Amino acid sequence: MSRFEGKVALVTGAASGIGAATAALLREEGAQVVGVDVRGEGAELLHGDVTDPASVQAFVGDTIARHGGIDIVANVAGMVRFSHVEDTTLPDWQQHLAVNLTGPFLVSQAALPTLLERKGCIVNVASIAGLRGQPYTAAYCASKGGLVLLTKSMALELAARGVRVNAVCPSGVVTPLIAGVAKTIPTDADQKLMERLMAPNGLWVEPVEIAEAIAYLASPAARNITGTTLLIDGGTWC
Ligand SMILES: NC(=O)c1ccc[n+]([C@@H]2O[C@H](COP(=O)([O-])OP(=O)(O)OC[C@H]3O[C@@H](n4cnc5c(N)ncnc54)[C@H](O)[C@@H]3O)[C@@H](O)[C@H]2O)c1
Repeated sequence: MSRFEGKVALVTGAASGIGAATAALLREEGAQVVGVDVRGEGAELLHGDVTDPASVQAFVGDTIARHGGIDIVANVAGMVRFSHVEDTTLPDWQQHLAVNLTGPFLVSQAALPTLLERKGCIVNVASIAGLRGQPYTAAYCASKGGLVLLTKSMALELAARGVRVNAVCPSGVVTPLIAGVAKTIPTDADQKLMERLMAPNGLWVEPVEIAEAIAYLASPAARNITGTTLLIDGGTWC
């Protein structure tokens, strides 16, 4: 039997990388999946911007109108750029917080009435950079650290009302985000500090591995798991 038969999932950042892999896996396992992204549009992919409250209301409303409600919210949309902290501009800082932290807050809040009604769940894609310092990514670390505590605070507040809220914390995942961000690493980056980004098992994570972790946290098998941060990091945190 499919794990998500009869369930409706909303996946942000679904045009690429981890979001695309998550939408595909949930769909394969029986869910009705609505993807959202600022890039691309199609039958199963709505155009939407998680930083814009009006856009969030529109795509959450559209998903409910299409499928009658939402059981699973996967907040995957995100962005990152490297820069020395002294070169990080205010617009850079604000964009990281808007996409990676305010976005999941707005989407979760907009979906909350239907999640409460259907005893649904939220899975946020944070990062190992939300649990420990990473060089040249102060704005990213601040946004993902905020997302980890947003996850825990919401989990605590909503536990007795039947809504679970969890986060996954990947290390380096092979996606277009990583390919693009490599170009922004400062040319004078301290290699010793950069080594902190490398997993001791020497492997990179595949998007489907994060999708599997998200699916597990969204599944009935995880009914007693809320407020957790699941590391998929090849031992980087050890
Ligand atoms: N790739 C990694 O190594 C890695 C590691 C840890 C955490 N993450 C996190 O995983 C998530 C997905 O990253 P990915 O690697 O799949 O990247 P990706 O660039 O392949 O996909 C991110 C998607 O988010 C979309 N997006 C960006 N801003 C948006 C907005 N305002 N509204 C709606 N959609 C928006 C992009 O258009 C893109 O399709 C991000 O939150 C990222 O921080 C990635």
